[in-house]
Amino acid sequence: MEHVTLITGASTGMGFALAEEFARHHHDLVLVGKDGGALSSAKKRLVDSYGVKVETIEIDLRDGNSAENIYSFCREHKINVEVLVNNASGGTFGPFKNSSAVDNETNVQLDIVTPLDLTYLFLHDMNEKHHGYIMNVSSTAAFQPGPNLAVFYASKSFVLSFTEALAVEEEKSGVIISCFCPGPIRTEFLEESGMDKSKIVKKFKPIDPQKAANEAYKALMKGKVVVIPGFKNKRRAFDVRILSRKCVRHLMKNITSPIVDEK
Ligand SMILES: NC(=O)c1ccc[n+]([C@@H]2O[C@H](COP(=O)([O-])OP(=O)(O)OC[C@H]3O[C@@H](n4cnc5c(N)ncnc54)[C@H](OP(=O)(O)O)[C@@H]3O)[C@@H](O)[C@H]2O)c1
Repeated sequence: MEHVTLITGASTGMGFALAEEFARHHHDLVLVGKDGGALSSAKKRLVDSYGVKVETIEIDLRDGNSAENIYSFCREHKINVEVLVNNASGGTFGPFKNSSAVDNETNVQLDIVTPLDLTYLFLHDMNEKHHGYIMNVSSTAAFQPGPNLAVFYASKSFVLSFTEALAVEEEKSGVIISCFCPGPIRTEFLEESGMDKSKIVKKFKPIDPQKAANEAYKALMKGKVVVIPGFKNKRRAFDVRILSRKCVRHLMKNITSPIVDEK
């Protein structure tokens, strides 16, 4: 396999759109996900459409040793990962007190700990070669707190802060580090997380995953550290920096509250 890109959560949504984007640019792929059937059909579509080589790893990224297992698989199969994309994540809409403690912990594993471990493992190999790319998928959620999605927003803040710091540490290493921070994207995640019931989806119209993937790819290749697609999203990320934290909390209370049927 050549120019190998490993993408977590690659069978559907944004992850699949990113896989298509890298395949279009002649990257071979390692697709990671927990649904074997979905991975197989994603593989078939990518091989048929782009003629690239594709490996799949069926694994639950909420498991504490999943990063180590993915890394071992790549070593055993002599796969040199040139690009690591930490894309998979999860979150549930609703007040924190109504959430499940177990779900919160596994979401933190999926959104923070596993990407951290994968970054750690693959970064050392990239450092040895003085070459590589790591894209961590965050969100515009990273820039402020999100009532009703408190754990998800906090996790995305972690990912952004960590990725920016790493980008500085790796500035002269030959490894490009980038954080992709999209606003709402038209994927199953909006429905599954319950976010489609919040006003945010009405206010910031979801964009097409393919368009988002194209922007993320171009920005990674240019070495951009923080990538926010769309003017409205860029503006939102900027505005929260000049407003007081109290004001931002108040605005977010409104934006991430459930849509009330006005009939
Ligand atoms: N959609 C949005 O509006 C939006 C906005 C901002 C940021 N983002 C970010 O973009 C990224 C992709 O989101 P998306 O909307 O494409 O999500 P999605 O449609 O829900 O897809 C999630 C992908 O992650 C995989 N996945 C989920 N849990 C997993 C687990 N425990 N182990 C292994 N794989 C798992 C799923 O694979 P299986 O089917 O195999 O489980 C699926 O391929 C996320 O980081 C998300 O936070 C999304």
